[in-house]
Amino acid sequence: MQKLIIDGGVPLEGEILLHGAKNSALPILAGTLLCHGETILKNCPRLTDVFAACRILTHLGGRCAIQEHAVTVSVPELRSDTIPENLMQEMRSSIIFLGAVLGRAGTCHVSYPGGCELGPRPIDMHLEALRQMGAVFTISGGQLEAAAPKGLHGAEIHLPFPSVGATENVMLAAVLAKGRTTLHNAAREPEICDLAGFLRSCGANLSGDGEGTIVIEGVKVLHGCTYAIMPDRIAGITYLSAGAITGGTICLRGTSGEPMQNVLPVLRQAGCRIYEETDCVHLMAPRRLKAVPFLQTMPHPGFPTDVQAILMAMFSVADGVTVFEENIFENRYRHVDALVKMGAKIRVSGRIAVVRGVRFLSGASVTATDLRGGAAMVLAGLAAQGTTEIRQIAHIDRGYEAIEQTFQKLGASIRREN
Ligand code: UD1
Repeated sequence: MQKLIIDGGVPLEGEILLHGAKNSALPILAGTLLCHGETILKNCPRLTDVFAACRILTHLGGRCAIQEHAVTVSVPELRSDTIPENLMQEMRSSIIFLGAVLGRAGTCHVSYPGGCELGPRPIDMHLEALRQMGAVFTISGGQLEAAAPKGLHGAEIHLPFPSVGATENVMLAAVLAKGRTTLHNAAREPEICDLAGFLRSCGANLSGDGEGTIVIEGVKVLHGCTYAIMPDRIAGITYLSAGAITGGTICLRGTSGEPMQNVLPVLRQAGCRIYEETDCVHLMAPRRLKAVPFLQTMPHPGFPTDVQAILMAMFSVADGVTVFEENIFENRYRHVDALVKMGAKIRVSGRIAVVRGVRFLSGASVTATDLRGGAAMVLAGLAAQGTTEIRQIAHIDRGYEAIEQTFQKLGASIRREN
């Protein structure tokens, strides 16, 4: 079991090269199952979730070669339509393979995803949408068997909520289905547009991504391609916020400010000076951060749930009170206890968290609860006086490439220990 040890209080200074987006890489890797021919994914982040997705592809009969930040995939033949339980458990988002396997094989067998650290993770919207496209499901003993006895066909689908995963599963299932699929109330996250961009590069016919209604005309075959995955906007905000919370100056390379437009105004309101260029974002922290009164997580283009924990760490040392409202996940305040242990003043009631900024946090021994909650603890540790020890950092490695090396380059005293 590894842990991170941080001696906090050093203002971070310097440049970081942002890695590719985990939340794009995973559905795009699932999408490679649909292609005949070789696909080369560039800017693919080296993350445990990505390696788990590659293990699923290999199990299904694919060939995956990882070289630095490029992953080459070919799936000449599907050897299996079953994703075993151990592989499903390794990566929470493995349900994203359902639409792709069903699209390629016409059948798919997976274990039913249980709850996770963020609360229950139902897949009712995924299943209902795929049912409308001709899929039938048998669920028993925690196993989900899917089949499309007459093949998948296009459909007019209305999602009750713009679920990211359900949108991706429909896109993956529809690109090779017979006829036109129109998906209303689709998720509009930039990673949805990245998946659409990848599928178009492989010869798919789809439009409307990013706008709420996605129209997909099924094609007969998809070919391989070379595609560069977009930068990870959530990791980008994490690194900028680390600069902000430590009173530092950061230059984030490998991205423009565009994918972060729903969060950069909040950092500006907090007093950070931010300059955007085509391939980098500069942040200069103020002497003391200012609270932003109210932040409400919403589907894109609203304020993202994935940065709630990170900004909560940041606002825990700001001047004033910040109220958070979490509207996407039921159980996304599990990082609060750790922040409180470090001296933050936070009260949670249902979906509301009230953060009263304090002048200083103090180092403590804490346990990462989930990916972004763990990142919030790293930020708090970087700013805190004294030493912070964070356990269960496997959560953090799911979404940040060698996080300790990134922060070491910026002058932080942070190390990984076994
Ligand atoms: C994706 C992201 C995750 C992000 C989330 C919301 C990936 C790999 N993960 O997760 O980082 O936090 O979007 O932006 O891209 N729901 C249902 N029924 C369903 C599907 C979802 O009730 O069939 C609920 C979920 O329980 C949750 C909400 O809808 O409360 C949002 O879920 P969804 O948008 O599907 O998130 P994910 O795709 O799981």
